[in-house]
Amino acid sequence: MIVSLGADHAGFKLKEEIKAHLLSKGYQVLDEGTFDEGRCDYPDFAKKAAYDVIEGKASFGILCCGTGEGISISANKIKGVRCGIGYDPEVSALTRQHNNANMIAFGARFMKVDDVLKSVDAFLTTPFEGGRHNARVEKINELEK
Ligand code: RB5
Repeated sequence: MIVSLGADHAGFKLKEEIKAHLLSKGYQVLDEGTFDEGRCDYPDFAKKAAYDVIEGKASFGILCCGTGEGISISANKIKGVRCGIGYDPEVSALTRQHNNANMIAFGARFMKVDDVLKSVDAFLTTPFEGGRHNARVEKINELEK
């Protein structure tokens, strides 16, 4: 499975932790930057990772900024993206199960690395439940029109 990663300067170190974790588990990674702690703008990296996902170059996208907020808001502006904030591992699984999220965002300044890695695992291994959630996700898609 290919996973696209994007982060701003505040999320850079957390992205590197996630990248090492994913590679150690056998995932392929598309690293869309940023590549150092120099100040930059999170929408640029949200956009790159989001297009990897909606164009089918990656199955899922993982985003990091200081709070997880700006980079998820940015990604959710792009048609076809459903990006949740993985504020704990159970919620990270639920955003797949109920919302069929294709991206997840983390806040490097407020989340512990170990918890984030658990959330990453939960997100990537939990299937969409379908059923009653199908119509709701379809209504999200309708909002894009
Ligand atoms: C950068 O200082 C910070 O504003 C950004 O990483 C993020 O937290 C925005 O939502």
